[in-house]
Amino acid sequence: MKQFIKDLFSVAMLSLATVSLTAQTAADGLKDAYRNYFSIGVAVNQRNISDPAQVALIKKEFNSITAENAMKPVSVQPEKGKWNWAAADSVANFCRRNGIKLRGHCLMWHNQIGAWMYEDKNGHLLSKKEFYRNMKEHIFAVVNRYKDVVYAWDVVNEAISDGGFQTSHYPGQKPYNGPYRYTPMFQIAGDEFIKMAFIWAHEADPKALLFYNDYNAADPAKRDRIYNMVKKLQAEGAPINAIGMQGHYNIYGPDMSDVEAAINKYSELVKTIHITELDIRANEEMGGQLQHKMGGAKITPWVKTLFEDQYTQLFKVLRRHSDVVKCVTFWNLGDRDSWVGVNNYPLLFDADYKPKHAYFLVKNFNADADKVEVKEDFQPSSMNQPGQTYPMVNSQGFARFRIVAPQAKSVIVSLGLGGRGGTVLHKGKDGVWFGQTDGPMDPGFHYYHYTIDGGTFNDPATNNYFGSCRWESGIEIPAPDEDFYALKQVPHGEVCLINFWSESTKSFHPAQVYLPAGYGKGKQRYPVLYLQHGWGENETAWFNQGRANLIMDNLIAEGKAQPFIIVTTYGMTNDVKFGTIGSFTAKEFETVLINELIPYIDQHFRTIAKRDGRAMAGLSMGGVETKLITLRHPEIFSAYGLLSGGTYAAQDIQPKAQVKYVFIGCGSKENPEAVNQSASDLKAAGINAESYVSPGTAHEFLTWRRCLYHMAQKLFSKR
Ligand code: XIL
Repeated sequence: MKQFIKDLFSVAMLSLATVSLTAQTAADGLKDAYRNYFSIGVAVNQRNISDPAQVALIKKEFNSITAENAMKPVSVQPEKGKWNWAAADSVANFCRRNGIKLRGHCLMWHNQIGAWMYEDKNGHLLSKKEFYRNMKEHIFAVVNRYKDVVYAWDVVNEAISDGGFQTSHYPGQKPYNGPYRYTPMFQIAGDEFIKMAFIWAHEADPKALLFYNDYNAADPAKRDRIYNMVKKLQAEGAPINAIGMQGHYNIYGPDMSDVEAAINKYSELVKTIHITELDIRANEEMGGQLQHKMGGAKITPWVKTLFEDQYTQLFKVLRRHSDVVKCVTFWNLGDRDSWVGVNNYPLLFDADYKPKHAYFLVKNFNADADKVEVKEDFQPSSMNQPGQTYPMVNSQGFARFRIVAPQAKSVIVSLGLGGRGGTVLHKGKDGVWFGQTDGPMDPGFHYYHYTIDGGTFNDPATNNYFGSCRWESGIEIPAPDEDFYALKQVPHGEVCLINFWSESTKSFHPAQVYLPAGYGKGKQRYPVLYLQHGWGENETAWFNQGRANLIMDNLIAEGKAQPFIIVTTYGMTNDVKFGTIGSFTAKEFETVLINELIPYIDQHFRTIAKRDGRAMAGLSMGGVETKLITLRHPEIFSAYGLLSGGTYAAQDIQPKAQVKYVFIGCGSKENPEAVNQSASDLKAAGINAESYVSPGTAHEFLTWRRCLYHMAQKLFSKR
């Protein structure tokens, strides 16, 4: 039984195991994973750099630091000529001590700046001359003090407008509608103050990288305002040689195509771009509406998927542009420190500084997958409803999805690369959601559904298949060997539906019966395979998803298998709850099968109604049932098959059972060693056993189609 649980969840367990193993053994941090791409930075507060555990985390993961607040104008010079270096010095000394580069943040900003910089004691704007004197003095003092350790300065922060009219409380100013933020500094000196800040920063430290830094820098309209400003001021002699995109994102946006477009556009002007303040909050409020400490988002599995996807896709784009993106700085160390509040779940380390799953997704990226070119040979999936183009699949195994949901905020397809929770779609301008798996899917059949704003929906464009105790959408990724289950010009058998009375459960039970081609014509009697589905499925699975009838038709037509009947019935698996599976006995189903179904079949069909004419096999939980029932009823069955459904030990099968053939199979991504070992142990004990491992597949239907193909050739052959 333990073996079954291991097999059934082998895929999930495998990915979890990989993740926790990495967590335990990897001395390497994010900075090492991105060694060939860009530096990984973090904004720190005083606690972060004094608590030993947090210090250790910083040193392991990051190779660039920003002071979250300590170097801001108001922090170092709260009043004119009153310098307050303690906090800034401690961050600088931390970097000096540990040999970590420091990003200076920031020299000029309308926030966190003493009003003395631009106002007199009566609250009136200073003259340009006085303002410039203050600004120049400030910039020179700060830049000079940290020249040895600061390699980059955010010289001017957030000087561009978010759009629309802006007003001023200073007398004599008219409402302003232009590209700049209508700050006191701008009101005094226009955009010249930006230029002068860069000129003085450059004079103070000619070696430093000098950044213009802003938020919403990927928003196309704001992006263009930033671009135009930098271009204009560069032409006027401002030494702006880098652009900082802050990167306060959320799980709904920005769209990565906008991030990429902004990087492309900015790189026309500068050779260096930093993501300076990265966090991705599980909350769509922006700016002033942001619920900092209160409330926050509910972190449901689908919210986590959006969060993980946003991080994954962002880093994919950033890696692609590592010729210009030179540093990516997280705004805070762990969620507990975050300026957007712990409840908004924004960082890769949680409130206890434990790495989230997203951390591993960002860190353990697949550099080869980054380079894969997706072939434009997409075709509608063969499982689609008539006339439906989407979902589509290509020859590499990528799948594309499309759904119309104009009012939706998020759409996730449950199908995606391992451990990723699915494929996140994005809304086009036309309100249509569109997306593509991040890599090739395993060939064969896959169940899927949509999660739209947290609700579960089937794809209106595909057929439905019973799995997960419900009719799910399905997609078919073409397999190289798909010919063996293709519908071809060969004699076809029939699948008929029966309902037999079960006295033990006082109800009718459905079953499907495959009768091989020619059954109706003669008097011949046929052997029978009782073939069970897995948990969440029912008697329809083997024919709808498994194509068992087509596999048999083709095998029989080629003379590779002797014709036999297949009976599938509901294995009473679906009321068994996860967690109680260890105590599952299959007793009730055993009664239905042995006492009710088999006699019914032998009575109503031309069967070889004895032990040598019967086999039982099952996939996954159907394999568990097969093992339990075959071992308890050696007098009923002569051949057994477990398909990703555990193994037999040699001592399980008694010599008096006189078993003729045992098949044990699984996918190569499951537990092939155990499967092979079991078959060789059985063989060593004199039992006619065979194992089969389906290449490149996991706990999924192509594995079981292939298993059936191999097993069917031996089940009732002359042995
Ligand atoms: C934030 C800090 O994280 C907070 O602690 C502080 O209260 C406000 O400022 N853009 C910036 C950063 O450039 O300096 C801001 O930092 C976040 C937005």
